[in-house]
Amino acid sequence: MGENLRVLIYGLGPIGALVGKYLDRKAGVELVGGVDIDPAKVGKDLGEVVGLGRSLGVKVVHERDALTLMKAVKPHVVVLSTGTYLDKIYPQIVRAISVGANVISTSETLAYPWYRYPELATLIDEYAKKHNVRVLGTGVNPGYVFDTLPAVLSSVAVEINRIHVVRSLDAAKRRYSFQKKYGLSMTPEEFKAKISSGEITAHVGYAESVMLLACILGVKIDKVDEGQEPVVADKYMETQYFKIEPGRVSGIHGWGVGYVGGKEFIRYDLYASVGRQDYDEVVIEGEPNIRWRNDLGVSGDIATAAMVINMIPRLMKAPPGLITMKDVMTPSAFLGDFKWFT
Ligand SMILES: NC(=O)c1ccc[n+]([C@@H]2O[C@H](COP(=O)([O-])OP(=O)(O)OC[C@H]3O[C@@H](n4cnc5c(N)ncnc54)[C@H](OP(=O)(O)O)[C@@H]3O)[C@@H](O)[C@H]2O)c1
Repeated sequence: MGENLRVLIYGLGPIGALVGKYLDRKAGVELVGGVDIDPAKVGKDLGEVVGLGRSLGVKVVHERDALTLMKAVKPHVVVLSTGTYLDKIYPQIVRAISVGANVISTSETLAYPWYRYPELATLIDEYAKKHNVRVLGTGVNPGYVFDTLPAVLSSVAVEINRIHVVRSLDAAKRRYSFQKKYGLSMTPEEFKAKISSGEITAHVGYAESVMLLACILGVKIDKVDEGQEPVVADKYMETQYFKIEPGRVSGIHGWGVGYVGGKEFIRYDLYASVGRQDYDEVVIEGEPNIRWRNDLGVSGDIATAAMVINMIPRLMKAPPGLITMKDVMTPSAFLGDFKWFT
């Protein structure tokens, strides 16, 4: 038997904390460090910050001390859950790789980084290979509902004409940072202005999921289209965090479409608003037709933590470099050219 898997959590918001809390229950895992910039977390015990209700004897450090900490504790894996955009988290990834750590992150744009950040993706890939480690972006979405799940469901199809995934969820049940970034209680004008300026994002990753799924299936996408519009409340509503007057934003409808030969090949619809029914549905039109539905809805935050935790063993076995869910899964259909494998 080998040594314990040493894990450091970098970014201890709701997601990083949840990953830490569930990782603590896993055999053979040792939480060796925590990094954040929030003064409310820095200096506290990691066990307290992730909500274990007991001390782990490990203090959360500020990001400026991250490199020193990582050199001292030598994590096998850094769980990175600080942010969405790869250009912002790039220095954090480089820091982790430089000490020989593998990186698994919930950054949405890292799920298929060649779409939005091809140069950074190449740099990370080369640097990770040089240090013999792997870097993976995953989560519930991107990472599962819009990409890995339909890929796995497609395994029993010999022809596919179109894939349509619908994710419908009640925004009132989600964490504060989720409700805030979806613009709850804003006017529709404010929502549109803040989405345009990047002040709020709502969902990020429609295009990444399109490209990831197409890449797994061996299909070349000609064009990707993505967008989001506000859902407006027709009556007063409230969540644990927001009071929403009629006419104000109660959620979003977002979409991502991948075209092949001028026709929709992949289509995603995300409905996330207060009071909305929770469900996920995948329809694959092909031979044979496939329809899958989860009437409970794939849970958001726990599913993200689960994806991070469950992918760690696969990450450790994957080839070095910048990888995607394509490299750690997967039964799926393959629609590309079989010559690629000869
Ligand atoms: N792929 C998926 O399915 C999926 C699912 C859920 C979440 N996500 C993404 O995962 C990320 C984490 O989610 P979350 O809800 O926990 O986000 P969050 O509430 O923004 O928490 C992020 C934490 O990281 C800290 N932080 C920010 N910059 C940092 C830095 N440079 N160094 C160290 N710590 C830093 C933040 O501190 P401050 O609060 O002081 O800024 C905060 O404590 C987000 O980008 C989210 O969009 C992806």
